[in-house]
Amino acid sequence: MSDTFLIAPSILSADFAKLGEEVEAVLAAGADTIHVDVMDGHFVPNLTIGAPVVQSLRKIKNAFLDCHLMIEEPEKYVEDFLKAGADNITLHVESKGDIATLIKKIKEAGCQVGLTMRPATPLETIRPYLKDLDLVLVMTVNPGFGGQSFMEDQVEKIRELAALRDAHYHPYKIQVDGGVSEQTKSQLQQADILVAGSFIFKHPEGYKKAISLLKEKV
Ligand code: DX5
Ligand code: ZN
Repeated sequence: MSDTFLIAPSILSADFAKLGEEVEAVLAAGADTIHVDVMDGHFVPNLTIGAPVVQSLRKIKNAFLDCHLMIEEPEKYVEDFLKAGADNITLHVESKGDIATLIKKIKEAGCQVGLTMRPATPLETIRPYLKDLDLVLVMTVNPGFGGQSFMEDQVEKIRELAALRDAHYHPYKIQVDGGVSEQTKSQLQQADILVAGSFIFKHPEGYKKAISLLKEKV
């Protein structure tokens, strides 16, 4: 296990009027990947951004674009995200459609694939897919909005995922999303990637300081 986390700023908390500059700034400040929260107003009660924004951000060549699809019918849109140049696409197991087929389609396009679940959804639901995944995302807030409080009762899923990975030699990375901060990271030692929106983009001492505060495992 690495002694540092990979850090994925969630652009949901960025200034959308200068999104490209914001992405360049967090990359210069040490971000490892860029987390793009895609919401359709149905799967979650909020509406954010779609594939055209990913296509524009693709011009920033060194940005690894990690797209978290909080949408009801991913099979309608996955193709668009692949064409737009996503580097990873994370699906919700509760979305409509055949998850196994979508996972296969994403992988065949040469894109990495992740799977996640709402906090109320048991880990069991994603178990059949674990061997095929590059990433498993543990949601530590109810998907839909930035700036919510970290749900401690989800930490157990991280432990279970780490144990399953060891037991079965699965290759996936464990990512955590929601309420991640300098205070909550101590509970996330077995994770590999921390997503953080408000902690990074609203930090009074700037992006570099915020990322350095999250980076080291304690
Ligand atoms: C919530 C999103 C998160 C969100 C995290 O549905 O998936 O990525 O931006 O924001 P913070 O870090 O502010 O909880
Ligand atoms: Zn997210």
